[in-house]
Amino acid sequence: MSTRSRNLPRRSCLSVPGSNERFLEKAPSVAADMTFLDLEDSVAPLEKEAARAKVVEAVRKQPWDDRVLCVRVNAWDTRWTYGDVIEVVSGAGERLDEVMLPKVQSGAEVIALDLLLTQVEENCGLPRGHIGIEAQIETTTGLIAVEEICAASPRLETVIFGPADFAASMEMPVLTGGVEIPEYPGDHFHYVFSKILMAGRANGLQVIDGPYLKIRDTDGLRSFAQRTRTLGYDGKWALNPDQVAVLNEVYSPTQEQFDRAWDILDAYRRATEDDRRGAVMFGDEMIDEASRKMATKFVTRGERAGLTRSAEA
Ligand code: GLV
Ligand code: MG
Repeated sequence: MSTRSRNLPRRSCLSVPGSNERFLEKAPSVAADMTFLDLEDSVAPLEKEAARAKVVEAVRKQPWDDRVLCVRVNAWDTRWTYGDVIEVVSGAGERLDEVMLPKVQSGAEVIALDLLLTQVEENCGLPRGHIGIEAQIETTTGLIAVEEICAASPRLETVIFGPADFAASMEMPVLTGGVEIPEYPGDHFHYVFSKILMAGRANGLQVIDGPYLKIRDTDGLRSFAQRTRTLGYDGKWALNPDQVAVLNEVYSPTQEQFDRAWDILDAYRRATEDDRRGAVMFGDEMIDEASRKMATKFVTRGERAGLTRSAEA
């Protein structure tokens, strides 16, 4: 587990094709919480091997500030995975926080990556456990195994839903992944979102929603992202700078929510410590230990997003 990046915010996770030098150069100027340089599906098979060196160069030379920096390697059912990991992790040096593994099918796939990373770290002088893992759930088999996957390695930092590949794996009759299906009465991904969220949280992971592919429709993105935000997801993928701006807003608590959460924590602390009471009225509602836990989440998220408590009136 990378101690640096584990608790950093991931409201917006920007995908950058690893074969495109122009995009690699521009990426640090986009204010995403997390950026991943992709060697998988946004890179053509004939460019896969050449992209590794471009990604290494970008990790080493670009001014990345303190955001989470990740490289997505190819899935274990291709011929590129081990070469991606060895070349990129040994070339990139300490600034690389994580490796993202796509189309994860089982806990064993995460363990295989963990073992390979341990050898690469040892050979290139990185501290053991330096590189974290992000696991993408985007196949039916992966979803069925999500609980085992999320518990498979202490290197895991996040679990991510991949709606486009998942729709293909389910053989859903859609041509755009990760957007609403108006004919469906309800949210066709509700079960999937909840299942992944529970498995991730049960193992202390951040939980991330994947891409919204109508990249010019920022209103559609805003409304769609509210779903996973409301369930409790930490962030969502972005495919361009406009999407980053929307997601940084959607996945941050408002100042009002942040201040209210602090007020609840104060009231609850006074009730339990000064008055020795476990439940107390806060305005027109009762608060107790569960309220403290909910408020703590808002405070942690708000602090991650850079909020500070308003001065008391
Ligand atoms: C992302 O990788 C997806 O398939 O949606
Ligand atoms: Mg995918």
